[in-house]
Amino acid sequence: MSDSIKTAFPEGFLWGGATAANQCEGGWKEGGKGVSASDVFAFRDPDNAASAADVHANCDITDEDIRIALACDDDTKYPKRIGADFYHHYQEDIAYYAEMGFKVYRMSIAWSRIFPRGDEQEPNEEGLAFYDRVFDECAKYGIEPLVTMSHYEPPLAFCTEYNGWYNRKSIEFFCRYVEAITSRYAGKVKYWLTFNEVDSILRHPFMTGGLIESRWEPDEFQQVLYQAMHHQFVASALATKICHENIPDSKVGCMLTKLTYYPYTCKPADVLAAQQAMRATYCYGDVQVFGEYSPYLLSLYKNRGIHIEMGPDDLDILKAYPVDFVSFSYYMSTCAAGDDEGLETTAGNTVIGVKNPYLPSSAWGWQIDPVGLRISLVDLYDRYRKPLFIVENGIGVAEQPDENGQIDDQYRIDYMRAHLEQASLAINEDGVDLMGYTCWAPIDLVSNSTNQMTKRYGFVYVDADDHCQGTYNRLRKKSFGWYQKVIATNGADLSDVD
Ligand code: BG6
Repeated sequence: MSDSIKTAFPEGFLWGGATAANQCEGGWKEGGKGVSASDVFAFRDPDNAASAADVHANCDITDEDIRIALACDDDTKYPKRIGADFYHHYQEDIAYYAEMGFKVYRMSIAWSRIFPRGDEQEPNEEGLAFYDRVFDECAKYGIEPLVTMSHYEPPLAFCTEYNGWYNRKSIEFFCRYVEAITSRYAGKVKYWLTFNEVDSILRHPFMTGGLIESRWEPDEFQQVLYQAMHHQFVASALATKICHENIPDSKVGCMLTKLTYYPYTCKPADVLAAQQAMRATYCYGDVQVFGEYSPYLLSLYKNRGIHIEMGPDDLDILKAYPVDFVSFSYYMSTCAAGDDEGLETTAGNTVIGVKNPYLPSSAWGWQIDPVGLRISLVDLYDRYRKPLFIVENGIGVAEQPDENGQIDDQYRIDYMRAHLEQASLAINEDGVDLMGYTCWAPIDLVSNSTNQMTKRYGFVYVDADDHCQGTYNRLRKKSFGWYQKVIATNGADLSDVD
């Protein structure tokens, strides 16, 4: 442990953890829920960490895959149908979060639980009632929910029958959903995020955008992707408007994938490559924060011959309803080089980049870089001058209880401590306004990129394997007590626990 960094966090700092319905909720056919995009993802056994990092292979899907999935009633082949079975364990799980002292719990609502196909006029009452129970359970412990409206689970009918977010009707459907949830949960939920990692549609078009890539010619698909993303931008702005109207004291954030690129060397070509990679990272958040397309994105469209069909008011809508705060995920950093021929590459949060010789990596190749978190916080704050919120940060590790039934996850404590130290420096030395920290994830759940249960992030272990075999019983890991102490001291004491 580094004992030289004294940490301090502001009063009222929102400590907690983050999950998403598609990876943790399960109950895929219960309570009137419709099938979602994540329910048709088959587990593809990765031989090793490298193949697990092949996001495109893991996330791409065809109409034939969907047909097979719908005909298959063996849910163990589709781990996101079961997740960590939060649907049946939510009281127990929230009690664990309360025991750790959570101030906030980030979770998502499954759109298909509220509008099973996405295109209905009226919401599913049973679905709404489920989240009422979840929010009431949080309220019992004084835990504030932070709710993501869309986290990789568009209703399947919306994807297959409408081509997902490519269809302009998506805006109307999504707004109806937002109206339903924000009017229902006014008084229960104050903090909202619109789309999880809005840029992720470029990396996994189906899960984020409901786009079945094989339906288009390869040279058409870029156009489709950016058109779909435009619809998401407009829907995000309108969701912000609806939320503010229904819940006047609400705070609505965007959620960005914070990818951090360093030049591989100080060669100008490498520095330029890193700068370009960073511009490509920021340009999506820019739309949601500044309410306008960045020059970077506009020139990308021009140079690639992409033409975005816009409604007459779209640009005004983007301008009128920017977000209140900026949230982001941060796990790792990577390098960029002008010419990466022959350079070793490595995986990161659904991206592949040039390996940094100065950084260690997780078993999945994600490079561990706490200082990169400080760099990210400073960059984001200097750029946006809006309150920031770290809504995902953590390390995925394959782990099992030892012969005494204990899980000594000291590496998780080390990872999080190092990142929290850097967050504290960003707040106290760099003047960054940071609202809170919700680690990913407080409980083991199914990995987004690999569909594995064994890529574990939690303070709480869930007894289930990649093939959904196990009791789904919960077990506290060593890090549980550590995070409890961190929260109890408002981040002033990050030292080890026994
Ligand atoms: C984030 C996503 O980018 O990364 C989460 O928002 C995801 O849904 C997390 O689970 C970690 O990635 P993975 O692939 O290890 O689950």
